Amino acid sequence: MSQNSDEIFKKVISHSKEYGFVFQSSEIYDGLSSVYDYGPNGSLLKNNLKNFWWRSMVQLNENIVGIDSAIFMHPNVWKASGHIQAFSDPLIDNKDSKKRYRADVLVEDFTEKLFQKAEKEIKKAAARFGDSFDSKLYRKTNSRVLEYESKAKSIMKRFSKALKNDNLKEARQVIIDEKIKCPISGSTNWTEIRHFNLMFGTKIGSVADGANDLFLRPETAQGIFTNFLNVVKTSRLKVPFGIAQIGKAFRNEIVARQFIFRMREFEQMEMQFFVKPGDEKKWFEYWKKSRMDWHKSLGFKTQNYRYHDHEKLAHYANAASDIEYKFPFGFKELEGIHSRTDFDLKQHSKESGKKLQIFDPEINDNFTPSVIETSIGLDRMFLSVMSECLDNEILEDNTSRVVLRLPYSLAPNQAAILPLLKKDGLPEYASKIYDNLKFDFQLVFDEKDAIGKRYRRQDAIGTPLGITIDHQTLNDNTVTIRDRDSMQQKRVNSDDLNKIIRSATSIEALLKKR
Ligand code: GAP
Repeated sequence: MSQNSDEIFKKVISHSKEYGFVFQSSEIYDGLSSVYDYGPNGSLLKNNLKNFWWRSMVQLNENIVGIDSAIFMHPNVWKASGHIQAFSDPLIDNKDSKKRYRADVLVEDFTEKLFQKAEKEIKKAAARFGDSFDSKLYRKTNSRVLEYESKAKSIMKRFSKALKNDNLKEARQVIIDEKIKCPISGSTNWTEIRHFNLMFGTKIGSVADGANDLFLRPETAQGIFTNFLNVVKTSRLKVPFGIAQIGKAFRNEIVARQFIFRMREFEQMEMQFFVKPGDEKKWFEYWKKSRMDWHKSLGFKTQNYRYHDHEKLAHYANAASDIEYKFPFGFKELEGIHSRTDFDLKQHSKESGKKLQIFDPEINDNFTPSVIETSIGLDRMFLSVMSECLDNEILEDNTSRVVLRLPYSLAPNQAAILPLLKKDGLPEYASKIYDNLKFDFQLVFDEKDAIGKRYRRQDAIGTPLGITIDHQTLNDNTVTIRDRDSMQQKRVNSDDLNKIIRSATSIEALLKKR
């Protein structure tokens, strides 16, 4: 990670804390590792992200319905799904630093550095050759760039193959052969690699009554599969159709780090799309594109998104692709699109003895649908949005301002109501405006400090509009309205505020873009 991106990441973390977006959990007790709480602005932003996803999936698709299933599930669910046997990470320890790592993350970080070296070569050449530089051609022909990229790819290939074959000795050998060092001790003194199951265990009922061992769900998807028949019977859906859900998931991550990127308690937004067997390839491609379009509809830099097709597949999948986002610490998975075959439904049929099938009148028989899954981490989405939008703008007079350039329809508050002075009846008038608008919009009321300082405070939390009530308002019922991005102000009649705020911040415009 270059110094610069390191600095950016630190700023995202400190800004999130300072402005009430994200706090360390149990901070007064020195915190709980990799568990975070969302503050007043963070919870509003998080709700807006959820709303954007939910409406894109459930409201805009007539063949997708939503559910909200429980976190606790029957223990046999995890037997059937394969999580008890196979939901583990390859773990390795460095004998000198005594630090524990995910072997795949060590290798991924190592290869990412090689890719970054290739990018650096291209940037250097671009600076050298100026306007005539053809970066595509250079990438294809420059021997050093080719060497870095092909080395990174062949390491990943060898490592993925070893993991796929469950050959942990060979996987370790990749780390040894490439002399991958522990970031703390700098040594290559590694233990063997072993499997570590990521599910958190808990118990239901008292021990005296014969308590049952349970797991906290590591993904929300299984609640969809176990409700498959209930939904089919109650909603008259025909394939292809989807079931969507937002909810908490829990994983005992070995290396939980990078702020809210990898947490032990997090939220997923998942959709399982049930299709006729044989149609999965078509629908996999459809959802891959559709989800990328959804991300790009936010208007962020398109070069910050890319696909990563998987070589190592999860135990249930026959195809998988990630949508990666360029976080300050490099390109990493933001969302997964998986072709899960009929694995889950068949496994649950076997384990429960219930037929999880649909009747097809065309063939006059029952069949088990195949499943395409889209799965995005809400917290990762949150981090991508904060990383993309936090900006330090240099102004014409050489001063600077911090602006959180959130899409207007996702900002925690749509407008700030700002009486210019704390006297002369201005706060009372402003309160009336606030009371009129509060049923339709999330607003902030701020009367403390000079108006310039208040504008900056709102810029820093991304509030799109600042509405100032001054002495003229008392005479003619007009207010000034300031736009966050352009900083332009205009005078409008306060009776028009509802319409103006709605048109600038409604989520409909964003939904229509996808
Ligand atoms: N149902 C499929 C599934 O859970 P996954 O790739 O393991 O697939 C899906 O997870 C998404 O959940 C990821 O793309 C990521 O955004 C999010 N996610 C997974 N583990 C996470 C963690 N420890 N902290 C935060 N988000 C996580």
